[in-house]
Amino acid sequence: MAGGGAVVSKSKQEYPGRLTPFVLMACLVAATGGMIFGYDIGISGGVTSMDPFLSRFFPSVYRKQQADSSSNSNQYCKFDSQVLTMFTSSLYLAALVASVCAASVTRVAGRKWSMFVGGVTFLAGCALNGAAQDVAMLILGRVLLGVGVGFANQSVHVYLSEMAPARMRGMLNNGFQLMITLGILAANLINYGTDKIAGGWGWRLSLALAAVPAGIITVGSFFLPDTPNSLLERGKADDAREMLRRVRGTDDVEEEYGDLSAASEASRAVKSPWRDILRRQYRPQLAMAVFIPLLQQLTGINVIMFYAPVLFKTLGFGGSASLMSAVITGVVNLAATLVSVFTVDRVGRRALFLQGGAQMFASLVAVGALVGAKLGWSGVAEIPAGYAAAVVAVMCVYVAGFAWSWGPLGWLVPSEVMPLEVRPAGQSITVAVNMLMTFAVAQAFLPMLCRLKFVLFFFFAAWVLVMTLFVALFVPETKGVPIEDMANVWKAHWYWRRFVTDVDDAQNGDIEMGNKNSSVKNYGLRSSLDS
Ligand code: BGC
Repeated sequence: MAGGGAVVSKSKQEYPGRLTPFVLMACLVAATGGMIFGYDIGISGGVTSMDPFLSRFFPSVYRKQQADSSSNSNQYCKFDSQVLTMFTSSLYLAALVASVCAASVTRVAGRKWSMFVGGVTFLAGCALNGAAQDVAMLILGRVLLGVGVGFANQSVHVYLSEMAPARMRGMLNNGFQLMITLGILAANLINYGTDKIAGGWGWRLSLALAAVPAGIITVGSFFLPDTPNSLLERGKADDAREMLRRVRGTDDVEEEYGDLSAASEASRAVKSPWRDILRRQYRPQLAMAVFIPLLQQLTGINVIMFYAPVLFKTLGFGGSASLMSAVITGVVNLAATLVSVFTVDRVGRRALFLQGGAQMFASLVAVGALVGAKLGWSGVAEIPAGYAAAVVAVMCVYVAGFAWSWGPLGWLVPSEVMPLEVRPAGQSITVAVNMLMTFAVAQAFLPMLCRLKFVLFFFFAAWVLVMTLFVALFVPETKGVPIEDMANVWKAHWYWRRFVTDVDDAQNGDIEMGNKNSSVKNYGLRSSLDS
């Protein structure tokens, strides 16, 4: 931990500076970083539902699917294959490992080189996938894409938060999520189009087109300047000051520069952020870094994002109708994320979390009931078209609930509650837990669908109930709270205050939020729970 008093930050709202071309470039990078991630999320499900792709790489799944396509065989199990799920999930395992390695590259070589490495690896993955001759090439390609996603996700987030003026940070954060949903929708649309290409090679185009955003980030990172923070971190103080002037578009940067150097010094003094974050005083933040991404994935959202076309085929839709349904859920996902962008700072995090949770719970129970009522336990039945349309409609209600709550907030809340000295470790934990859980859900879904059948939807509904209770009891409102006042939020919380108050009493306030003398403000949390 940095020595007493070093990192007391003040509100950075008033630093001079305008929206310069550099900041615009940063937005462009953010956009492509988010799109790459989203494109990968959205592309695999559609491709694995295409017959030419399945028959070429996964012939046993293809044969099973053909044999099972009659209504008198078990619909729940027709896609259950570990190799097939590995195609989807291998990317997230690679991204998990890469994002941890990327933290060092980002620190030692600078942010832009991390982005560059990410872009190049990603391009190699696209080439392998587009030209794939066998399953090994496919999975190796996915692993390379995963490395690219890991590097890009880690460095783009850091780059953005350092380049953007403070007042734009929240917007850019939600903008990143918006670009993820746009990437998913683009993938859904492209799959719908390439499926129609005669000759059955459309899947190659689907996989290879990921090279477009990857190309932008690779070339872009070449021309991007490094951040002032990164230059300082690498001992280039003069360059850092000069860069700050150029980035902010003004010579009046001394105040911000002073704070940047103090922060950089303090972070250098942190010998072991990984050990620090395990200390009792950071228990609330650690809990957010672990539980929020974990629970975000247990909403089951990626069942829809990865497997929507496969799932809709399971429900008896034809190939093209399945791909179209995925486009519909993609549009809902994007539109509902926009709702969150415009409301999150007005209605607050808790209201969105709780409302979204209730909506997801109700719709998951409804989907389970609808599927169960028709397919039953045997999975042997045909679902009439009108009925299937109702299932898609309810799934859209579920996706909307996620997209304005746990989607963006699953990233925003853990990042905004971290004090500076443990922020890198906290961010890495959030990304790693998210990737691990994404991998686990992707790998487990098809076998679980085969065994738990329609009950699987009740399984996710039960988790949504758990996470909604978790928010009600343990997640404080952070709307409009400046980072440096965040300690007050914990102090006002019925449960977390025991950890934070102890710090003040036992360690004489410490430095973490610089609020030793400020009174405990009530951010609307001292609810009835508190009495
Ligand atoms: C999640 C992804 C998910 C996406 C859907 C993100 O917040 O982390 O796993 O696929 O939202 O829009």
